[in-house]
Amino acid sequence: MNEQWLTLAGRRLVPVVQGGMGIGISAHRLAGTVAKHNGMGTIASIDLRHHHPDLLARIDCMHGSHAAHEIKAAIEAVNLIALDREVRAARSIAGGNGLIAVNVMKAVSAHAALVRQACESGADAIVMGAGLPLDLPELTAGYPHVALIPILSDSRGVSLVLRKWMKKGRLPDAIVIEHPAHAGGHLGASRIEDLGEARFSFDRVLDECREIYAALGIEWTRVPLIVAGGIHRHEQVRHWLDKGAAGVQLGTAFAVTEESDAHPDFKEVLARARPEDIAEFTSVAGLPARAVLTPWLTKYLSRETALQAKAKVRQCLEGFDCLQACGLRDGVARIGQFCIDLKLAQALRGDVARGLFFRGRDPLPFGERIRPVAELMRYLLTGELPAEPAGELAGELAGGGGGGVADEARSAAMRLSKNAASAGSFTVRSN
Ligand SMILES: Cc1cc2nc3c(=O)[nH]c(=O)nc-3n(C[C@H](O)[C@H](O)[C@H](O)COP(=O)(O)O)c2cc1C
Repeated sequence: MNEQWLTLAGRRLVPVVQGGMGIGISAHRLAGTVAKHNGMGTIASIDLRHHHPDLLARIDCMHGSHAAHEIKAAIEAVNLIALDREVRAARSIAGGNGLIAVNVMKAVSAHAALVRQACESGADAIVMGAGLPLDLPELTAGYPHVALIPILSDSRGVSLVLRKWMKKGRLPDAIVIEHPAHAGGHLGASRIEDLGEARFSFDRVLDECREIYAALGIEWTRVPLIVAGGIHRHEQVRHWLDKGAAGVQLGTAFAVTEESDAHPDFKEVLARARPEDIAEFTSVAGLPARAVLTPWLTKYLSRETALQAKAKVRQCLEGFDCLQACGLRDGVARIGQFCIDLKLAQALRGDVARGLFFRGRDPLPFGERIRPVAELMRYLLTGELPAEPAGELAGELAGGGGGGVADEARSAAMRLSKNAASAGSFTVRSN
């Protein structure tokens, strides 16, 4: 079915990677299923307590009776328990196949504890982005078999990480190159205006990395490059593998699979969004981010300037202090002014009116359909569409993600949801 393998941590994997998606979108079920199909499945480590009602209850009963620092410590402690449970459950689904990775964002205040917990719980790899992972080798000391995978966006970042890590006697086991003009979630550029810069093009990054590897005496296959952002067709997978990438990573397409750990309405919002429903904005973490223009985001963006004018240092609303630097808590007027943890948790629960729904910019392989991981991976690797709706799917794909009966249904649904959005409630089809 596939003649090119991605070799990581001594394992031979299919070259399709499922990217980490927080909060809770990629937990044990999604990551475990991808690994079961011999891919790398990634659990996003941030705030996994939301999948565990017993852990949420432990925190709920503290509000009003405990100091902020006690609540923060308790949230961090239950999140480590949740991560442990999720890694173990994912491994059990994987049944010894593939790899289970844990994604940790450098920008998160508990990143060091999350990395250590992931290693202790049996993660095969740590994938770190949202900041330069310069200290990842030290954080994983004592776990030499855990693969280390930075997420970067241009060759300058690759060169910096390679040089710094080589001084410590370690090389990354792979590097994810994420394109800020296409990917979902937080993006690897400093400003929204920079997202489309030429230095992020996969062609350019691959070419420049060849030169950097040669200059540093690193064999091309020693640190495989995995390209991420905007991949949604088999032909793209073939193309980038032929161009020298060792694998591709997808986020949005996995977020809408049957096995994704998100609420069904989360998947519907992503699957039904059209290009004009997707927007870039500046997150509280100070990075550009991409998401669906649902009612909350539309309203927030209309008030962003006014909220920024009122920015002031305040206590974290949730007592969590999830980020090392937060625009809302720290009163940084030029960046986001909302509680990202609250908004992402609402999205995970399918709260269409209030949540923040991260999404990549590009169409989805199966249009609006929610299909199993196995079908997605088969399509990406072989070009084979699922048997049942193949006719319709082929029509949609030929039209670049639109066309035919499905397109009419999509237009009707989005008209409906737009009307509902202006009335304050974003409606999605319920299955
Ligand atoms: C809903 C969602 C949440 C995401 N959360 C994270 C995250 O917590 N950490 C991270 O490194 N990347 C995150 N990403 C980025 C993905 O891992 C992936 O690299 C990216 O979405 C690839 O682009 P694509 O969506 O066009 O396939 C997220 C993406 C989405 C769509």
